[in-house]
Amino acid sequence: MSHPTDFNDRMLSLGLARVSEAAAMASAKLIGRGDEKAADQAAVNAMREQLNRLEIRGTVVIGEGERDEAPMLYIGEEVGAGEGPEVDIALDPLEGTTLTAKDMPNALTVIAMAPRGSMLHAPDVYMDKLAIGPGFRTGVVTLDMPPAERVSALAAAKGCSTDDITVCILERPRHEEMIAELRTTGAAIRLITDGDVAGVIHCAEAELTGIDMYMGSGGAPEGVLAAAALKCMGGQMYGKLVFRNDDERARAEKAGISNLSRVYTRDDMVTRDVIFAATGVTDGSILPGIKREPGFLTAETLLMRSKTGSVRRMTYRNPA
Ligand code: FBP
Repeated sequence: MSHPTDFNDRMLSLGLARVSEAAAMASAKLIGRGDEKAADQAAVNAMREQLNRLEIRGTVVIGEGERDEAPMLYIGEEVGAGEGPEVDIALDPLEGTTLTAKDMPNALTVIAMAPRGSMLHAPDVYMDKLAIGPGFRTGVVTLDMPPAERVSALAAAKGCSTDDITVCILERPRHEEMIAELRTTGAAIRLITDGDVAGVIHCAEAELTGIDMYMGSGGAPEGVLAAAALKCMGGQMYGKLVFRNDDERARAEKAGISNLSRVYTRDDMVTRDVIFAATGVTDGSILPGIKREPGFLTAETLLMRSKTGSVRRMTYRNPA
């Protein structure tokens, strides 16, 4: 018999969808208005309010920032109604603040929840990431391999030519060398301007999105969120923290990380069963964005549980 303090992922997941929906709905009026901060704040307020209605004793482990820089949903903030299971929460109320402000594709609200102590407390530094979808032998591609070798290894495993592989990468000057090397393989590269949680999720639905592999560095907190999603959908992911200075190393140490050069697998980043919800803010290749009709807003949410591998797509229509 289940106890009220068990991590009842089946019931909690529906509440999590509400949290994600509320954040997306709140940011809707700020899509395309050029104000990243206002869009983020609207999503943060709504997410926090909904989260505090859930019957959980939650701690934000991936949040808006350190306590002194983020007044709400900061790392370590206790959330939830104060009764129920003790859980870790990783969230990004608006993944793609610039995408939202500029009305560009793939802005999402994202949240994941798992039993207390099961998510990596990733500091706000970069993480070198590599992800592929399900159905491949473990370790078919690794972070140790040079980028071009990853493409040939994945092509061999898929039984296709390297020309048939598509890699998704954040368009940043720091990735120019990687992109140049990948060009030598003939692989296609889908460059994204922001939003690498969506970038990684693309790999889990390669037939739909056309993306086979994600690589490159982006936020470490987003890395944990992406690992949570892939744990539900299937697929492999590796992440290694990247430090540019001593201050960043100190952040990692403060977060309890002692081995600064560790390569984390998906299951090292999220060690137990997790639930994950994401709602589309702007139209994207994973989720449609918020639709506005006179008097109504409609949002679509992807809701997943790693325990069952279930993936739900839920449409929510609400008077605006
Ligand atoms: P925000 O939503 O906070 O703007 O982050 C978007 C994002 O693109 C993430 O998806 C990604 O991990 C990170 O920023 C990359 O950081 P940078 O812009 O410094 O390369």
